[in-house]
This record gives sequence, C-alpha cells and structure tokens, in this order.
Amino acid sequence: MRIMLKRNGWKLMRISHLRVNHLREPLGYDLRSPSFSWIVSDTASARQEKARLRVFRDGETLYDSGLVSWPDSLGTELPLRLRPRTRYRWSVTVVGDGGDRGEASSFFETGKMGEPWQGRWICPGDEKNAVLYKSFRLEEAPSSARIYLTGLGLYRLFINGSPASDEVLTPGLNAYDRWVQAQTFDVGPLLQKGENQLEIWLAGGISRGRFSFTPEDGYEYCPYDCAIGELRVAAAGKETVVATDESWRWRTSPILESSIYDGEVWDPGRESRSGSVRLCTPPVGPLRDRLSPPVKVVMERKPQRLIVTPRGETVLDMGQNMVGWLRFPARGPKGRVLRLRFGEQLEHGCFSRANLRTAKAAFTWRCDGEEKTASPFFSWYGFRYVLLEGFDEPVDPADFTGCVVSSDLEETGSIRTGHAGLNRLLENVMWSQRGNFLDVPTDCPQRDEREGWTGDAQVFADTACYNMDCAAFYTKYLADMLEEQEKAGGCVPYVVPFARNRSRGFEGGAVGWGDAASVIPWTLWLHYGDRSLLKRQLPNMAAWMEWAAERKDWPSACRHFGDWLALDRPEEPAERVGKTDISFLCLCYAFHSADLTGRAAGLLGEEALARRAGTLAEMYKERLRKEHFNPEGALLCPTQTACVLALHLGLAPDREKTGEQLRSLLRESGHLTTGFLGTPWLLAELPEREAWDLLLREDCPSWLYEVKLGATTIWERWNSLTEEGCFSETGMNSLNHYAYGSVAAWLYGYMCGLRPDPEAPGFRRFRWEPKPDRRAGFARCSLRSPLGLIRSEWEFAEEGLRLCLAVPFGSRALGLLPDGRQVLLGPGEHRFVLPGPFGNGEVSS
Ligand code: BGC
Repeated sequence: MRIMLKRNGWKLMRISHLRVNHLREPLGYDLRSPSFSWIVSDTASARQEKARLRVFRDGETLYDSGLVSWPDSLGTELPLRLRPRTRYRWSVTVVGDGGDRGEASSFFETGKMGEPWQGRWICPGDEKNAVLYKSFRLEEAPSSARIYLTGLGLYRLFINGSPASDEVLTPGLNAYDRWVQAQTFDVGPLLQKGENQLEIWLAGGISRGRFSFTPEDGYEYCPYDCAIGELRVAAAGKETVVATDESWRWRTSPILESSIYDGEVWDPGRESRSGSVRLCTPPVGPLRDRLSPPVKVVMERKPQRLIVTPRGETVLDMGQNMVGWLRFPARGPKGRVLRLRFGEQLEHGCFSRANLRTAKAAFTWRCDGEEKTASPFFSWYGFRYVLLEGFDEPVDPADFTGCVVSSDLEETGSIRTGHAGLNRLLENVMWSQRGNFLDVPTDCPQRDEREGWTGDAQVFADTACYNMDCAAFYTKYLADMLEEQEKAGGCVPYVVPFARNRSRGFEGGAVGWGDAASVIPWTLWLHYGDRSLLKRQLPNMAAWMEWAAERKDWPSACRHFGDWLALDRPEEPAERVGKTDISFLCLCYAFHSADLTGRAAGLLGEEALARRAGTLAEMYKERLRKEHFNPEGALLCPTQTACVLALHLGLAPDREKTGEQLRSLLRESGHLTTGFLGTPWLLAELPEREAWDLLLREDCPSWLYEVKLGATTIWERWNSLTEEGCFSETGMNSLNHYAYGSVAAWLYGYMCGLRPDPEAPGFRRFRWEPKPDRRAGFARCSLRSPLGLIRSEWEFAEEGLRLCLAVPFGSRALGLLPDGRQVLLGPGEHRFVLPGPFGNGEVSS
C-alpha cells in the first residue's frame, strides 16, 4: 500500500488501512461485491466533507465517484464489473470539513472468479502424504507469475525448493463438500530462466483425517489427497501456463504420518518411491476464490526454561500456553528417534497430557545422520510444555523455537490497568483468541476436538471484535455456516464446518449455539459498521430464525447444551448442562435472534422480513413472560443465567425484581455459577460495585482464580485445575478455551466504557461510560476502531479521578461520566478531572 500525504498549508491528513472486504491488498480473494474502507488520521478536520473513490485497470480509469459526500469510510460498495485474474488499483481522496485533504492508494487482484480451470485434479493414487511435482523450462526470466491452486486435505507449495508463501495449513479448513477454497500466490520472484520445479506437498488435514472426538463420527470429505493448480508466467510478452495434468509425478515425502490430533512422524532417510499421478474427481464442492485470511506463524518464542521433572523427564517450558509447533535442528546418528510430546500442564511437577483425551499430540523424527531443521507441516499443538525424548544431553533450550500459528489478524485492542491480575487475564484472553482463531474459531487447540463450535464462537464474538479485526475471519466462518444451513433447512449445526456426520447424521439446532447465525453478523455490524457485511449475512439470520420458528417443540427437538458448564447443579457435579430451564433459553434466544434479524432486515430495507421478525419477537417475549414469570414479575425458575439473560435482552417485566433475584442468588451461592450463556453478560447486569467485587475475586470459581494458579490462557471450566494445579476430576479440561474470556468485552465496554452504538455502528458514534474502581488504580485502553484510534483512560490521582478520551476523525462519543454528567465529544482529546468523590472539574477539552 502506498500512502501519499498531501499538504494544504500546514495541514496534513493521513489515510491508512485501505481495505477491500476488510482485507489488505487482497490477492485472489472472492471479491464479488467489493467493499472499500479506509481510516483518516492526523487531521485538524473533524469529519469528512467529501471523498472521491477511483478504480483503475492498466492505468485506465474504470470508476470515478467524483468528489461527493456519500462515500463511507466504514465500507462503500462500488458497482464494478471485475475480470478474473486482474490487478486493479484504487485510490481514495478525502476532503475534511477543515479544508485539508489527503489521498492514498492501494490495490486488489482478482482470482479465477469461477472461470474454467486449465489444471485438472490430480492425485498420487492411494499414496498418503506424498509430493506432487513437475519440472519445466522457461526460456526467459518472468516479468510476473501467479499460481492459482488448491490441495486436499492440506498442502504446501514449494518452487525451486523455497516455500511459495509464508501461509501455512492451506487451503484452510472449511465445508469442502460445498466449496473448496483456491489460493493465488505471486510467485514471480521464485522462478528463473531455465529449469524450474514445482512441488505440492500433501497430507490429510480434516479432509481425510480423523476429526471429532469419537472416531466413528469422523467425516471424510475425500478419501485421498489431491491437488489442482495452474501457474501462469508472463515473460517477454508471452504467457506460459503450467497446469496440473497427467504429466506430473508423485514421490514419497519424509512424512510417514500426519494427523491434526496426533501430530506427525517424519523419516527423512526413508527410501523414496515415485510414480505417475492420476487424474481424479474428488467428491467435493466447486472451486471458489478464497475467503480465509492467511494462517501464518505470527510470532516466535524461545523456551523460558528447561526442567528435569521428579520423574526424570526433560521438559521445555515455553512460559506461555501457545498454539503452533516447535522448530529445532534435528541431529543424531542415523536411526535415532527424537520425539516431542506436547502438553499444557505439569502435575506434581511432572509432564502431563491427561486432558488431551485420544489426541497423541506428538512429533517424531527419525534421524538420517545429517542435521536438518525439523518442524511439522500439517499438524499443530496446544502446549506450554514439551517433553523431549531421544535428544542428546545436555539439551540446549536455545535450539528450540516456538512458532505461534494463528489467522493473521490485526490486534486492535489493548488494555493496561494498575492491577497485575487483570492485566494477565486480558493477556490470557488474547492468547486464547490467537490460539483458537486458526482459520476457524475453534473451541480448543489441543485435544481431539478443535472444532468450530458455534456456541463458543457466539459468546466470544464481542470480545473478539474488540481484540482483533475479525471482519474477514468471521465472513469466511459465516459463509461456511450458510453452506451448512442450506443443507439443513436453515438449521445451524453444532460445529461449522460440520465435519462429523458419518455415523450419527446431522446434529444441530442447539439453543445459544445455532444463534451464532444471528449474533455474529450483528456483532460485526456493531463493531465495523459496514452494511455489506450485514447484507451478506442476512440469509444466515433469516434461515435460522425460520428454522427455530417452525420448531414448536424446539426444547425437545434436538440435543441442547443449555448454559454449558454452569456450576448451578452442585448436587450433580458431572452434569454439564446447567440448571437454567431449556424452554426458557429457547424462548430467550428465539426472541434475541428474531429481534436482531428484524433490526438487520429493517436497516437493509427488507420490510416484509423485518415485520415477520418483529411479530415473532413479540410473540416469544409474551410467551416467555407468561410461562416463566409469575404475575408479580418474578422469574419462576431463577438461576443466575436466567436472570442475566432476561435483563440483558430486555425480557424481564420488572427489571428491579429480576435484578434483585440475581443478587440474591449470588449471595446464596456465594459466587458466580454461570456457564457459557450467562457469563458474557453477568457483570453488565450487576451494579458497578458488585460487578467489580466479582471480577476481582480470586477464589474458585472466578476469572482471577485461574490467573492466581498461573494460567496463561483461559480455561474451559471454572474449576479445570485444583488448587494443587492438577486437572480436576470433571474430565474435559482444556486450558485454552476462550468462552469465559468473553469477560473482556466488559473490560472494554464497561471498565473502559467503550461501546459501539447500534444507531451509528462502527464507532461512528459510541458510548463512553467508564466504570472506574480504585482497586485497579488506572486503566488505559486503546482501540483501533474502524474510524481510527480511540483511547479511553482513567486514573485515580491526588486531585481526584482523571479521565481522558481520544475520539478519532469522523466519530463522536456520547459520554456518561462517573459523576453523572453527560457529554457529547467530537474528534480530539478530552480530559476531565473529577475531584473528591467524582465532582465536576473539566480542565481541558
Ligand atoms: C466443546 C465446547 C462446546 C461443547 C458443546 C465441547 O466438547 O469443547 O466448547 O461448546 O462441547 O457441548
């Protein structure tokens, strides 16, 4: 991206973050309806007066909006007729209301856009984990080259021995039976005049591998590995195409075994075999241009220490529960076996993998006598500790590098406070998001699961959108969800993609899980304010709403998870479905989804759908009030979660009464008991002081209990580990499960007070209602919103409570200060001092 700064007298305006469909300089993505966005900063202007969008192809202007008032920096769709495999430049000019202006430009390039492929699908017969290869000559050095390709299960492309891209785990994980994502890479710099070689390494991934915890559940999209691709090279004014066809060959790779759950076994000295490839027709959906943002090694970490455990094990401690793999120099005499086993916890000081269920989570390397760099290609691990076997003693921890693998998303939010425990909690949430945002929002990264559980994704989406720019990431997830919904009459499966239906058939429709279809699109709308996102996802919302509406017996129509892992059934500790009544939950969420669908439809001018959704929502509300509240307005079967949902969704006929019920339940149990569904909104529905009290508790169950026990990610259960640091007897204890990390949305939205306003989403207007507490000392939040950087800070100082808010260009804040004052704040920095117990006292603005 080129950024141009234009001077207008002394004024400078900076335009950055140029995005198309929320992707930076997208190459080969599905851009059927491109939406353009950008950020203006470093300007004395408060808002945009006019803007001009232009799109060029080969230097020719294809589109010019002229300098007009309507372009929206949050997302503007342009009526473009794009061609396949074509690069476009685009530029935006902005004139501010202060008279300054700026201009910036970027590019995007289309993929194959559904045009026929010259390449054919090829496979190495039944050979697993093979390399498909082809040598060819180029008469001239290329001026440019692109490769369009994909492979199943997972693939890596090498050109002349070098990786063609820094992406890993391509082509991503999705509903391959409905569509297969094709990638485009710019490979010009890797090709040379003369002899060249293409190599496509393949392994099973979820497409042919075990996926889901009961082996008989596994869904096999395609029983063999295969690939399709075409390389297009431009040289000396001529185009050369090298496509996959019968002329390709296969050879064995050093990978003997590869599985997502079990890891990989490498034998570089293995005797190589080769053969001719076969043409094939894999039983998968059509090829489409990709939607997935790239998955990459986003960070590297060195081990923090080397431990010799009481059992005599040699264990590396990465100092952080992370997701990815280790890279190390593998050395040893021929035939020596080096093995790494990955785990999340030490129990009694010893390596433990007690929570991994059937996942072997290992990496094995058989030395061939030569030193080589080792790391897995197609598997990943969730780990803090690595048990080393077969290595020469003494082991040098500096030999090992932890590669943190994640979807490569911009981290947009951060908070620092004067409370070390809260800071660690916030870091843990970010680490759990990094680790579980791996093309699919997964429940956990380590055991035999790692699936796109819809309920987890739904409850965490608000937090996720504060922490990172998730628009493109969720767009892909929701596209898969819609594919699954189309197969299932609108129903949403438990996991997306639904790669687990071989023996049991379709499973879905769970309350609070299926509602991901409406909650995530609405959350994207609130955080990013781009109508095109809502438009794209309205079909998910409508289909799910109608499916639920047709289920008169929804509570008994399928298996529900309820308020999953709630602690409100102490008499039945093994029971995972909390005590909150399922029919109550069904009415709450049916209301919630219909309400959101109605609002989205109204905004998009879909009047009939908006009316239908409004009628349904009213009907659910009435039923809920009639069936679950007594005539005095009290909840008949109160649980903490029931109260929280009724309050948060505006369903309680008497807010005060329900609020009192919630507080008395908390007093009775002495702690929180909420599960996945109640936890995200619990603090928001408590009076400020009580919310803080709960937040800062360190006994079990609480957020800081796990921090106190040294957690570096969020646990699946409130009580996943005992005080002694051993796995509790409950079973199913992931230590990297983001659902309870949904508390971070309270820290951004209430502690720091930054909440998007549904009337003007994307932080065009936002709430600023900070809720400071002396026990935290200070809080400093920075949020790179889609309009630019917002900073919200408070600090208890001698002269009183100091507050500061920075509002970006094009945005306004509706503030409610802790002293009750309401303020409307435009772009710029605003400071307040509230002396004594929050008096007045603005010092500058
Ligand atoms: C997953 C959860 C998920 C749940 C649903 C578990 O196995 O790890 O996070 O939402 O099942 O019951």
